[in-house]
Amino acid sequence: MREAHDPAPVRLTVNGRTETGRATPRSTLADFLRHELGLTGTHLGCEQGVCGACTVLLDGQPVRGCLTLAVQADAARVDTVEGLSAEGGGDGGDGGDGRAAMHPLQEKFWEHQALQCGFCTPGFLMAAVAAVREQPSMTRGQIRDRLSGNICRCTGYQPIVDAVAEYAAGLGQRGDRPDEQSPGPGEEQP
Ligand code: FES
Ligand code: FES
Repeated sequence: MREAHDPAPVRLTVNGRTETGRATPRSTLADFLRHELGLTGTHLGCEQGVCGACTVLLDGQPVRGCLTLAVQADAARVDTVEGLSAEGGGDGGDGGDGRAAMHPLQEKFWEHQALQCGFCTPGFLMAAVAAVREQPSMTRGQIRDRLSGNICRCTGYQPIVDAVAEYAAGLGQRGDRPDEQSPGPGEEQP
């Protein structure tokens, strides 16, 4: 007979692919992604909901992977940093520097040197993608507000805000439209 704390199957859609694994009732979504599915792009810092390093999207909304139970994600859609490059499609050619696989927001982080150690970066990227998708036209203050749940020890935040602002502005210039998979256009420069 199965005990209440025994692992149980969890089936979810991660970055567009159906995945199945096993999780105990106390397993966090972040641990499930990392250890059961091998998606180690989602990082763990504080493991108590403070730093935002573990941010992933659950049915399109940013959540703390360290505070969300894996069983809560059963039958849900989860997006992690590993899915960003597939979504964004890169810049169409890497010229030997590996940039072809990057999402446009990742390219902006790269251009603005919005990371040093990079540990916080997956969480910032996922939080920013969700923020721009929900509110394409943000002032710099609004961007700071939307990213205030993510902590970076290295960059001083300025280049991170620069990168997100330029990404949002670029969407508006390209005339992209918001949909389920990609963030929407900005109507004014942040
Ligand atoms: S590891 Fe989840 S918020 Fe810090
Ligand atoms: S780049 Fe090091 S913590 Fe943000």
